[in-house]
Amino acid sequence: MNPKKKIFDWYQTHKRDLPFRKKKQAYPIWVSEVMLQQTRVNAMLPLYEAFIKRFPNPESLASSEEEEVLAYWKGLGYYSRARNLRKAAIFLVQNYNGSFPKDLNSVLKLPGIGNYTARAILSIAYDLPFAVLDGNVKRVLSRYYGYTENILGSKADSDLQEKADLFLNTEHPGDHNQALMELGATLCLPESPKCLLCPLSDFCFARIHQKTGEIPLRKKEKKQIQLSSEIFVLMDQKRILLVREPKMRFLKDMFHLPYGMVGEVPEETYAPTPFFLGLKKILKDPKPVGMFKHTITHHKLVFSVFVSPLKGIEEIDNLTKKFGVESKWVTLSSLDTEFPSSLASKVKKFLLYLES
Ligand code: ADE
Ligand code: SF4
Repeated sequence: MNPKKKIFDWYQTHKRDLPFRKKKQAYPIWVSEVMLQQTRVNAMLPLYEAFIKRFPNPESLASSEEEEVLAYWKGLGYYSRARNLRKAAIFLVQNYNGSFPKDLNSVLKLPGIGNYTARAILSIAYDLPFAVLDGNVKRVLSRYYGYTENILGSKADSDLQEKADLFLNTEHPGDHNQALMELGATLCLPESPKCLLCPLSDFCFARIHQKTGEIPLRKKEKKQIQLSSEIFVLMDQKRILLVREPKMRFLKDMFHLPYGMVGEVPEETYAPTPFFLGLKKILKDPKPVGMFKHTITHHKLVFSVFVSPLKGIEEIDNLTKKFGVESKWVTLSSLDTEFPSSLASKVKKFLLYLES
């Protein structure tokens, strides 16, 4: 039997009997999906029933006072969900006669409705062919397909949405989506999934290769930090100045071309050193020769390269002494070995034509 059929059959016999699953109606399904965004099924059920009894349709919700809606939300938290629900109900009454639109873009315009909720409502209420991706589905699909990349990474959602679309049972999108969520909630658990009971086990990459402990990979990505910097090629005759500044955030143990951040820095540790600021002051007319991008771990830097011939090195010597900075003079051909970083070769590209 094919896996889509298997999971469909499994769902028919194992689905939980939940009030919002009784009828294929957009409004109660919408309310349930919004409640389930941050709340577990068992915790939301009593509140869901009371809410639907008091506000059985978009009209009753739209004509209510916000305060009363919030009172019915008490215990669920994240009250902006309730405010948005009411706002969206008002919008539906005013623009769609109280019915729920059937195309994804219109649904996505409603307050409080993002990709997941829109797809869930359209597939469950109208059986439209939209595959959902929530935390549970991501775990199931990454194991099933053997998706070994970081699921917290920036491309995971689009990669997995592609797999979800591919796996969708277009004859029963609503049941299929709920089956995957149910599977993730009851069998395909983060720790010790119950593969022996799982309808997908014959086809599941992680089960077959015994990798349910490694997949999905969850690695917090550090926030990317954007920085602008300037890097200087200071030339005395044919020699280039390198310095070593132990106080620098990057490259601190290595001789490097003088560089420093410009503009706003997110933290003091990125600020240019007094030596670098002093250096910029004594340069007469540094010539910009180009720019390049450079990544250091989670830092994205854009470097502007400046070249400046020096008339004597006395001022530089005074400055390095004043700030306790080590220095040495190297030739262009030895630049990459004296300054062993890909930064050096990037800078060198701009210098080669100056030689000739
Ligand atoms: N979690 C959120 N919505 C759900 C649904 N319709 N079925 C199962 N789990 C869910
Ligand atoms: Fe998850 Fe195991 Fe089922 Fe694969 S076989 S989907 S790992 S429960």
